Amino acid sequence: MTLTTETYDELRAIGARYPEARSGLLPMLHLVQSVEGRITPEGIEACAEVLGITAADVSGVATFYTMYKRRPVGDYHVGVCTNTLCAVMGGDQIFSRLKEHLDVGNDETTEDGKVTLEHIECNAACDYAPVMTVNWEFMDNMTPDAAVGLVDALRDGAEVHSTRGPRIVTWREAERVLAGFPDDLADEGPAAGPASLVGLGIARDRGWTAPHPDTDAGSGRTADSKQEAVAQADTGRAETETKQEEGSDD
Ligand code: FES
Repeated sequence: MTLTTETYDELRAIGARYPEARSGLLPMLHLVQSVEGRITPEGIEACAEVLGITAADVSGVATFYTMYKRRPVGDYHVGVCTNTLCAVMGGDQIFSRLKEHLDVGNDETTEDGKVTLEHIECNAACDYAPVMTVNWEFMDNMTPDAAVGLVDALRDGAEVHSTRGPRIVTWREAERVLAGFPDDLADEGPAAGPASLVGLGIARDRGWTAPHPDTDAGSGRTADSKQEAVAQADTGRAETETKQEEGSDD
């Protein structure tokens, strides 16, 4: 497939968002994936040409991050977290069941080209373990049966929603969003689920606030007053030690 002038224009537009165009390489690679379905040699050459760097520079980045794929990805990238917490909560069983059900191994795509299965590392969603993702949208509190139902629905073309709300789009469409071209679905569903907000509720109940650069953590003390408090504590400790030494001399 040949990249069109429109894609080249969009690659340049991404670079133009940054003071240093090279900072746009990551979203540029996502755009390549949205067009080509993977990182192709042509896509690498295009990024290099637009940024005025070598193909080796681009390739070094594309091969470092696991979100960039050298092999074609199916319509739906299905990730199963098998990191520590999700694993013990059932992630390993989910991954085994899906491998068997889909008849694929890790990082492989079903024969119909619909689903690519991959075991993924912690997605910082441990409060909903075991967690899966579909095109990087969360599927929380999964079970092996729910996982099978999910991939069957995706392969059947049913409308599927993340457990947090947003409609699941295709992998290429999701890659375009990661390239910085919004699909206006970001506001579907809540920004964070209840389990993720428990700590915030506790903090509000107790009047805790985030640290301010010029004050002590949430206490309202200034950096100077904190230094004074530390100095007073040191003085008190020295006095106590002196008294203890005097006592031991007796
Ligand atoms: S261990 Fe699975 S999201 Fe953290």
